[in-house]
Amino acid sequence: MATQERPRHSRKVLARSPEQARTLPSWIYTDSDLLVRERETIFRRNWSFVGHVSDARDGRVATGWIDDCPIRFWREPSGGIAGERIDGTAPSKLRLCVLSGLVFANLDNGADDLESLTPEFGPSLIDFVPRIEELVLCHQIRHEVACNWKVLIENSLECYHCEPCHPGFSDDVDMATYRSESDGVLTMHTGMQRGSDTPFRYWYLWPLTEIDANPGEKPQLSIYTREALGAGRFAMIGHFYRLPGDIPDAQEIAQMESNDTLLEDYAICESVQRGLGSRGYGRGRFIVDRERSHISEHSVHHFQLLVADALDLR
Ligand SMILES: [Fe+2]
Repeated sequence: MATQERPRHSRKVLARSPEQARTLPSWIYTDSDLLVRERETIFRRNWSFVGHVSDARDGRVATGWIDDCPIRFWREPSGGIAGERIDGTAPSKLRLCVLSGLVFANLDNGADDLESLTPEFGPSLIDFVPRIEELVLCHQIRHEVACNWKVLIENSLECYHCEPCHPGFSDDVDMATYRSESDGVLTMHTGMQRGSDTPFRYWYLWPLTEIDANPGEKPQLSIYTREALGAGRFAMIGHFYRLPGDIPDAQEIAQMESNDTLLEDYAICESVQRGLGSRGYGRGRFIVDRERSHISEHSVHHFQLLVADALDLR
């Protein structure tokens, strides 16, 4: 990597106000040693989506992942969901939480409950997709992307790039209605489809989970998790859920495999990663406006504060 500022012990890496802050320095996105710390202090100490309760139906033992750590879970005779780590580490190290049919796991036995961290998350899911607990897995994808895991998350937390980079998405969404709001571990994006009264809503749960839902008579849920493969590479894993019997056809499978918006974001983010690794860039500024409109990057700043807090970089 290029010679860059490495303020590991600074207490002022990131200002609390997005108007005042400079972005995290570029080495945060290129340093292999840092990824080791991120695994321990971020991925293994926070809640990640590992599956749906329906994955454990009919006595099945389901497998999910927190980054590169496999998790098993199953339904107990009492009706509850239980689990342990596959590598044999003491089961007490694994905690599970079910919110609106979605199973989340945390490898830190001392972590706060997910429901207490974000009380609005579960209710907002079932409010938007009332039949969410009935859904079943219909397809999975795995894409490898040549950028740091944080780059694509930051991309998803702002829509400044949407109009120039996502023509299809921008045709579908009324950008004037697009808003994102971050509170603790949860960011929720809301808005309206263009020319209709159909809302959209999607969620980012710190650090690795994104949930995109289409409500309606045939609800669809797209949940994306991540596995870091190196400082400059990660795997994006997509889990797609529908009602039993609503089986996607070949065209719908192809859309899940190569969604235009995802592929457009991969190209942008791989370009951003090349820029982060160049000698010409150290850190930048956030684009924010008072209205916190669709072009405002306040949720990216919130994410970077979570990173800085977890790594004790401030
Ligand atoms: Fe995007």
